Parts: sequence; C-alpha cells; structure tokens
Amino acid sequence: MVDKITVVGAGNVGATTAQRLAEKELARRVVMVDVVDGVPQGKGLDQWESAPIEGFDSRVIGTNGYEETAGSAIVVITAGIARKPGMSRDDLLNTNAGIVKQVAEQVKRSSPNAIIIMVSNPLDVMAYVALKVTGFPRQRVLGMAGVLDSARYRAFIAEALNVSVRDIQAMVLGGHGDTMVPLVSYTSVSGIPVSQLLDRATLDAIVERTRTGGAEIVKYLKTGSAYYAPSSAAVQMCEAIVHDQRRILPCAAWLEGEYGLSGLFLGVPCTLGRNGLEKIIEVELTGAERAALAKSADAVREPMKVVGL
Ligand code: APR
Repeated sequence: MVDKITVVGAGNVGATTAQRLAEKELARRVVMVDVVDGVPQGKGLDQWESAPIEGFDSRVIGTNGYEETAGSAIVVITAGIARKPGMSRDDLLNTNAGIVKQVAEQVKRSSPNAIIIMVSNPLDVMAYVALKVTGFPRQRVLGMAGVLDSARYRAFIAEALNVSVRDIQAMVLGGHGDTMVPLVSYTSVSGIPVSQLLDRATLDAIVERTRTGGAEIVKYLKTGSAYYAPSSAAVQMCEAIVHDQRRILPCAAWLEGEYGLSGLFLGVPCTLGRNGLEKIIEVELTGAERAALAKSADAVREPMKVVGL
C-alpha cells in the first residue's frame, strides 16, 4: 500500500477507478480531483461510505484543488471529455490537450515524484503532453490502453471458445485507435496457440471487433464512452506498481529506438514495477505485424503535431 494515489477527473472513468483503487486498498488515501464543484466531494464521500460494507480502509477524498493531492505516488489522469457516437478519439484532441496541459502542470508542482498513468484520449498524444509539460523521465509517464484493448480481445476469445477468460494470454500493441495491433501469433489459451483452436475467419472477426471495441460501447451508451473495463485496466497498472509486481503488461510507453521507433508513445510490452516502467520488452514480429505497428505509429504522430509542444 502506498500513502496516496490521486485520480484527476471524477467522471465515469475517474470515479470508477477511485472506487476500485479503494476496494483493493492500494493506497491509504485515494484523492479525486475535478473542476466541478461538489462532484468529487460527493462521489468521494459516497465511496467512503461503502467502506464499512466492502471492508476497505482506504479513505476516499474528493476536492477541487491540488493541496490534498500533494506527494502522491501515482496520479491517474482521466480529466477531459469523452466520445459521443460518430466521434473518433482524435476528435477529442484540442479540448483534452488543453485540459491535460493544465492538469500536468499541477501534478508537476504538487507531486513531483509521481508516476503518471494517462487515461484521457487520444491516449498516446495525451501521454506525450504530460511527458513534455512535467519533464518527468519516461519511466514515470505511461498510458493505459494495451491492458484495456487486450482485455477486450481476451474476452472475445474466451466467449468464442466458451472457456475461462483467465486462460487467455494475449497482447495488443500499437496506438489506442483503429490501427492497434492485436498479436494473434502471441495469443495462447493455457499455452495452446489460439490458431489451433479458432479458424482464421473467426480470429479476423475478433481482431476487428477489438479494434472497434471502444466505438461499440459508445454506440450503445450514446452519451459517453466505456468506463468499467478502462478503470479496471488503469487499476491493474497501479497494482503492478504499488506491489512492485514486475508484471508484463502492454502499456503506452515513450519509445527511444525500441521496435525501430523513437519520439512517440506507443503500446508495447512493458515490465511494471515500483519505478513505473522498468523495461520495454522487444518481441519478434512478423513482417505484417511490424508493418501494422509502423502504420499505427504514423497514426499517433499525426495528431502529435497538432498539440504544438
Ligand atoms: N481538471 C479536472 N477534471 C476535469 C478537468 C480539469 N481541468 N476538465 C474536465 N474535468 C472532468 C469533468 O468535469 C468530468 O467530471 O473530467 C471528467 C470527465 O468525466 P466524463 O465526462 O464522465 O468522461 P469519462 O467517461 O470519465 O472519460 C474521461 O477518459 O477514457 C477516456 O476518452 C475518455 O478522454 C475521456 C476520459
């Protein structure tokens, strides 16, 4: 358990993240910050009142300022607007870049040693904004996308095979958008290559559904985007860091030559531990997977130019 974890944004993703962090007792205090007066305070109090029933001792606090966040070990950033039907993650770019810039400045001042986990979209670009504004080393700025995209992919495979989700090991790399790269060649079911269990057409359909998994939820919800699985994914990353688990999880990390790419955030397999990003693992890719990753990198670089940092 660390002393404090802050969640910026007390909306759907932020509030669900705070509740999950508290239920897992990952921090003594979970602080939720939002610009809307009363919302973080009300949600924080409501969550804290669930503690006697759920049996956790993490104190959830809601606030509109950053004083209470001082010295946080981890800051999860979920502030910003969410997608509506017909919008791509890149449509959120200008609004969320402005919000994330302002949040990152506050985090730099109040929690200079924090590890940032970026959730606001477009994720890879927002992680870049946070890295630039804070000047933190790349070990301490990570983006949450791969764990979520892999979870969607694993859920669909488990459903197709009618087996436990626990037995599906899989990685989704690349940017958090339509160009993401589910690695079918590294997908196994209790060690059995998935290609022995599902035919090509079924796997292709699952890959496509994974790529558009976020949009599928937006279409149902109409007024916002997914938050149960995204908050689970962010909390799994926090857990790996807090307990120094050295888990290998796909995360958006700042690349410095890995996979032949530099100067951008992209989803790659990372070892997560106490220092945040402990290591980027380079796996062998097929020609097609490498080409798909390069295409995904191009799709991330384009909106990076717009934020002007
Ligand atoms: N500081 C703190 N909070 C802010 C700020 C700011 N500068 N600007 C906006 N917010 C808050 C809003 O007041 C709102 O409560 O961010 C919250 C966003 O919550 P929702 O609208 O419910 O959006 P949510 O579904 O949580 O998604 C947030 O995460 O997954 C991504 O694409 C998603 O970018 C979106 C983000």
